Amino acid sequence: MTIPNCPVIAIDGPTASGKGTVAALVAARLGYHYLDSGAIYRVLAVAVEQSGLNPDSQVDLQQIIPMAANLPVHFHGERVLLNGADVSEVIRTEEAGVMASRLAVLPEVRAGLLQRQRDFRQSPGLVADGRDMGSVVFPDSFLKVFLTASAQVRAERRVKQIEGRGQQADFQAIYSDLMARDKRDSERAVAPLKPCEDALVLDCSNMTIDQVVVTILKWAQERI
Ligand code: DC
Repeated sequence: MTIPNCPVIAIDGPTASGKGTVAALVAARLGYHYLDSGAIYRVLAVAVEQSGLNPDSQVDLQQIIPMAANLPVHFHGERVLLNGADVSEVIRTEEAGVMASRLAVLPEVRAGLLQRQRDFRQSPGLVADGRDMGSVVFPDSFLKVFLTASAQVRAERRVKQIEGRGQQADFQAIYSDLMARDKRDSERAVAPLKPCEDALVLDCSNMTIDQVVVTILKWAQERI
């Protein structure tokens, strides 16, 4: 397979499949850059919430669309800044995730965020995680992985993650949110969440993070 000038590995999948952790580790092992595209949708969600705008209102939508194209977001290592303010923690809340998923349904919002995501493609390479990395944002990725896990396992992992931050987590509420988000992400008309034809599907329900990373690195080596 011909590798384009700047190689991209796309890792797509549902919420809480572990793709963020895995993508960051694969990027570190290869010395590649890393794009957490969901973080960009989440930053927009926080910006919309801070402005008090409602994506269900056609009037508000006229303000939200230009916000997507001109989002003042900056990444400094692990820190994410919106208009210079640190939003690294607030973007990780369930509220921000739900709002991000609602905004992600809108084609104009997705179009507005497209170039910003493509700008992360820099030498020597990129590992990008999201929902449409392989299908829309980087269709020429030399390796496309669809990382999934059962809803039960994903909800358990999310609970552990929240409890790890010293917060309380309600399994049932998280499980229902996750199912609702999967449904909205999968059923939307534009760039729905589903494995693209040339993606390798990896169900990591019974795998450790390390096993997943090793599998993806092996697939990458086979193609380089
Ligand atoms: O990956 P995440 O949970 O941080 O993403 C938050 C939401 O953003 C998710 O529910 C759908 C949306 N999203 C998207 O539509 N396309 C992407 N490439 C990344 C995220």
